Amino acid sequence: MYKNLALNLVRVTESAALEAVKFLGKGLKEAGDGAAVDAMRKAFSTIDISGRIVIGEGEKDQAPMLFNGERVGNGNGLVMDLAVDPVEGTNLLARGRANAIAVVGACPAGTMYDPGPSFYMKKIVGPKEAAGSIDIDAPVKDNLISIAKAIGKAVDELVVFVLEKPRHKQLIADIRKTGACIQLHTDGDVAGSLMAADPGSEVDVMMGTGGTPEGVISACAIRALDGLMIARLDPQSEEERKSIAEYGKDVKEILTLETLIKSRDAFFAATGISGGAFLRGVKYHSKGAVSHSMVINGNTGTVRWMTSHHHRRMD
Ligand code: FBP
Repeated sequence: MYKNLALNLVRVTESAALEAVKFLGKGLKEAGDGAAVDAMRKAFSTIDISGRIVIGEGEKDQAPMLFNGERVGNGNGLVMDLAVDPVEGTNLLARGRANAIAVVGACPAGTMYDPGPSFYMKKIVGPKEAAGSIDIDAPVKDNLISIAKAIGKAVDELVVFVLEKPRHKQLIADIRKTGACIQLHTDGDVAGSLMAADPGSEVDVMMGTGGTPEGVISACAIRALDGLMIARLDPQSEEERKSIAEYGKDVKEILTLETLIKSRDAFFAATGISGGAFLRGVKYHSKGAVSHSMVINGNTGTVRWMTSHHHRRMD
C-alpha cells in the first residue's frame, strides 16, 4: 500500500502542474492557483487514500486552497495526514519565472504537526551529515562552519539559498560575512529546501523565514529522506503572534524534524510547473505533455526522478 501511495501522489502533483502551467507568465496568480487546486482535488478523488488536509496552504494570501480538515481521496487505502501546495510559487508562475512547483506531503494520520494559524516559520535545511550539529539559535557563522565541516568543504565554498525579503537583510549580511555564497530567490523555499537536502544540487543550505505551510510540506520530504531540518514558528506581526498563542502554541518551541513529522513513513511528491534548477517544467506538444517529478517514499527510502509522457485523448 505504501508503495502504491508514493506513485499515486505523483499523479496528484502532475495533474496540478499540467493545469497550472497554462497560466505561465499570464499575470493571473489566483486563476493559476485555482486551476491547480481543482485539478489536485479531482486527482485525489481517483486514488486509494483516505486523506485529511492538515496544511491546505493559501490562508496567508487568501488564495484558492484545499481547506484544512477537508477529506480527500476515494476513502480506500491508507489513512493519512496531507500537506498540499498546488502551486508553490504563485508569483513565480504568474510572472513566468523558474521554480514554481506542485507539491504534496503525506504521513500516517495523527503524525503531522498542526501549526494552527501560524503563517511564518524560521527554517534551516541542510545536508544530513550535519544533523545534530545545528542550533537554530546559534550565530549564522557557527552553523555554517558546522555544515561545511560535516560535508568536507570550506565555508566559502558553501552555497546558501535565501529568500530575498526585507526581513532577511541581517541574515544576508551575516552569511556574506562568513564568505559563503548565496543564491537569492524571490520565492519558493520548498524547492530551496529540497535542493539543500539533495547532495547532487548546487545548494548546500536553506536558511531563513518563509511560510509555515511550506515548512511542514518540506518537512515531509526531509523526514522521508532522513535529512536535516530544524525550525521554529516566527510570527511577523503582533496579530499573528496573538492568534498562535490563543491556539495554544509556544513560539519558543524548537521544531525538530521528529516534532514536525512524527512518523518515518512520510511521503513527498513534487512536479515542476515552470521549470528551474530543481525540476524541469511541463512541456505541451501536439500529442500531449511531458512532466518531470520527484517522489520520495520514506517507508523504503526510495527517491525517484520521473519523466512522464501524458497522452491527449483524441476521441
Ligand atoms: P506562495 O506560492 O503561496 O505564493 O508561496 C511562495 C513563497 O515564496 C514560499 O516559498 C515561501 O515560504 C513564502 O512564499 C514566503 O512568504 P512571503 O512571500 O509572504 O514572505
